[in-house]
Amino acid sequence: MSGPNKSYDPVEVAPLKGEHVDEMVAAALAAFAAATTTSTLNEARIAHTGDRSPLALANREIGALPPQARKDAGQRIGKARGQVNKALAARRAEVEQAELEARLVAERVDVSLPDPGPMRGEVHPITGMIDLISDVFVGMGWEVAEGPELEAEWLNFDALNFPPGHPARELADTLVVEPVEANLVMRTHTSPVQVRSLLDRELPVYVVCPGKTYRADELDATHVPVFHQVEGLCVDKGITFADLRGTLDHFANAMFGDIRTRIRPNYFPFTEPSAEVDLECFVCHGDSVGDPHNPCRTCSSEGWIEWGGCGVVNPRVLAAAGIDTEVYSGFAFGMGIERTLMFRNNAADMRDMVEGDVRFSTSLHGLAR
Ligand code: DAH
Repeated sequence: MSGPNKSYDPVEVAPLKGEHVDEMVAAALAAFAAATTTSTLNEARIAHTGDRSPLALANREIGALPPQARKDAGQRIGKARGQVNKALAARRAEVEQAELEARLVAERVDVSLPDPGPMRGEVHPITGMIDLISDVFVGMGWEVAEGPELEAEWLNFDALNFPPGHPARELADTLVVEPVEANLVMRTHTSPVQVRSLLDRELPVYVVCPGKTYRADELDATHVPVFHQVEGLCVDKGITFADLRGTLDHFANAMFGDIRTRIRPNYFPFTEPSAEVDLECFVCHGDSVGDPHNPCRTCSSEGWIEWGGCGVVNPRVLAAAGIDTEVYSGFAFGMGIERTLMFRNNAADMRDMVEGDVRFSTSLHGLAR
């Protein structure tokens, strides 16, 4: 700030002249009127009322005037500042009100609109497959049987003719539940439900047994430690391998449409003879076999894909359930449900089946049912 200057003519101090002060006020009022948002109004406030605004600078000049001129100049500047501040407050109220109204319009909720309702989920594809498979067999007069997931070791292995040292009993494969002396395991397959069904029911028995099964596996694209199988069992008079083939073909056609199946000899302790059921490759239909220019990743150019196991029920299993093996015979089969879903609905990664993302379930909508 300049010091008092006796030779200073107050009328010549330009910023303090009446018309100049009026211009400053007019400029401030115009800037406030032009500001339509709180942020532009804030800029105008700093420009016209801040420390470096023309009016603040003019105010500083008052001290440089001779004492007799200060009062007049002080009143002029004070009045001008009062006018500007009042206009600023009024404009701020207007702008804030306008902004509030705009926000209320933008955020308005029309409570009269119909409720879109909760987002729809979907039956899990595995559950859908279980329902679908059950329907196929119920349609042929079979029953659906269930058994516990925590199973007696005797039913999971011994009654199914697994010898005591069989590798499948190893801890590396089987989840044994403590205390070990209780001889309880998480069932490694649905085959123990065969024995339970034979013990529980009158003959003849025609059952499918879908359910969860457990093995000590890591989770990856083709393995899940908790998976699902469906077991089929028929025990009646005069049952032959031909009945098994016909049933498997019907099951395969119901799952995959018009598709060929084949069986290959294999070994399972609870069936004799035993076989592996293969499906004709859906991708190459066998065309890739022996054609090095046309390899098929789905079937490794074999032309067939393994689906499950099957066979004629071993008379020892029937005998363990107290059945007269001279009169009755039967067949059994067991398939992985995840594997069936993969083939049927092109689900490439088994992890999708356990992660519970509803987008996976809805992407298979209509296919699994
Ligand atoms: N239990 C067998 C498994 O987990 C599958 C199986 C094979 C079931 C042959 C059967 C059968 O009923 O007859 O690998």
